[in-house]
Amino acid sequence: MEFSTQTAASLHQIKTSALAIGVFTDGVLSPGADIINQASSGALKNVLKSEFQAAAGKHLVLRNLPGVSAARIVLIGLGKQKSYNANAHAKAELAFARYCVQARLTEAVSALAAIECPNSDLSKRAQATAIACGEATYHYDTTLGKRDANALPKLKKMLTAIPRNLAAEAQRGLDSGSAIANGMALTRHLGDLPANVCTPTYLGNTAKKLAREFKTIKVQVLERKQIEMLKMGSFLSVARGSYEPPVFIVLRYAPPATGRSTSKTRKAPIVLVGKGITFDAGGISLKTAGGMDEMKYDMCGSASVLGTMRAVAELGIDQEVIGLIPSCENLPSGRANKPGDVVTSMSGQTIEILNTDAEGRLILCDALTYAERFNPAAVIDMATLTGACIIALGHVNTGLFSTDDALAESLLQAGRETLDTAWRLPLEDAYQEQLHSNFADFANIGGRPAGSVTAACFLSRFTGKYRWAHLDIAGTAWRSGNDKGATGRPVPLLVQFLLNQA
Ligand code: BES
Ligand code: MN
Ligand code: ZN
Repeated sequence: MEFSTQTAASLHQIKTSALAIGVFTDGVLSPGADIINQASSGALKNVLKSEFQAAAGKHLVLRNLPGVSAARIVLIGLGKQKSYNANAHAKAELAFARYCVQARLTEAVSALAAIECPNSDLSKRAQATAIACGEATYHYDTTLGKRDANALPKLKKMLTAIPRNLAAEAQRGLDSGSAIANGMALTRHLGDLPANVCTPTYLGNTAKKLAREFKTIKVQVLERKQIEMLKMGSFLSVARGSYEPPVFIVLRYAPPATGRSTSKTRKAPIVLVGKGITFDAGGISLKTAGGMDEMKYDMCGSASVLGTMRAVAELGIDQEVIGLIPSCENLPSGRANKPGDVVTSMSGQTIEILNTDAEGRLILCDALTYAERFNPAAVIDMATLTGACIIALGHVNTGLFSTDDALAESLLQAGRETLDTAWRLPLEDAYQEQLHSNFADFANIGGRPAGSVTAACFLSRFTGKYRWAHLDIAGTAWRSGNDKGATGRPVPLLVQFLLNQA
């Protein structure tokens, strides 16, 4: 999709198939609504009195308003003016974008980002406009038998109506939002693909395709032999249970050479690590049948790494970024891990596998050891790691764990800026005791209490050499139920974090 600004002198003169105008409850007009109301001799006020209460996220279409050039004015409810904020703005943009898609419009103008609100600036609101359009136009049909060409979203162009002197700031937000939306679409698509299509090999091929598309991305896809040479015994023990070959993907993004950064002044890279279990049946500690299909989403961490790398390359940010993806299936078989098995990780530490369903940490730990070789400024891993995180935080916040307060705060901040929020959970030594093992350096589970914390504690034992944070996205990476599907989170948080670092 294309995003730009519309800087016409007055809103009522804009020629477009649909112009979004915000109105608050109790008949309070936004500045844009006021202009349209005056141009149409009070037509808006009349409608507000009689048939539109302007509840947040609701819309009403007005056609052929006198004195107004747009073919339709789409009134978007903003809720109460008193409580209007960045969240309400994003909801309003989403309502408009969904209307445009459903009405099969190819082009539209939104005047919503121009409306001031307390916890955001114009560029962040423009960014939210583009992300909302990405949300509304995402459409999965890869594995549908009868693809209906008419069901495809046609919205090609969204313009932000803004005074000329603010156009540059708005455009910056539209550009970052567009790259984030494209990254999210890739992340969602990979998540939504079934596990018999989206295999570790498929993820490897997707990474190679990214490297072909963006010259700033280089990729290596390591196969079983090479993973064995690296002595990733923990990762390989999980992979052994399946016929599907594992891969270890290494992506490197380097900023385009601008003369800004020479090898001497170049900052250390930031490493992103993503869990790439393309299907998690639990292994010998087999999961129950209900809802097991959703374990195709157990590679959403790796899909977020790929989506973020895509966005970073599209934006050409001035910060080196490395992506690491250990990927395999977790299945029961005659070769699978058994409870009580002891494996040796790449770090040399031994692990007693008390539950083969706690496999995410077993593949991530070797990737975290591999990350050391980059002398990273920070390492951030993301994983659909624990069901316990859904119990703790639901589907609202991603779980954030870090031993580094400054790093944790910048990630929380990036989440707030993009409305892709995280909540910090503790990572104290007292929890480490739960990983005690009589037969190895430690166990891979710590019992029921604080299950997400002990999972993070396990990972922390492989991260002593750098600043590190862990994102548990079990509750935020996909939605269940009738609108089952990947969300693209935490791509906005990560891209914003990297933009803020660069
Ligand atoms: N991929 C799952 C975590 C998960 C489950 C995410 C459901 C989202 C929804 C992970 O591999 C897993 O099975 N974790 C176990 C850990 C337990 C055995 C300590 C869990 O959460 O039950
Ligand atoms: Mn599992
Ligand atoms: Zn898993």
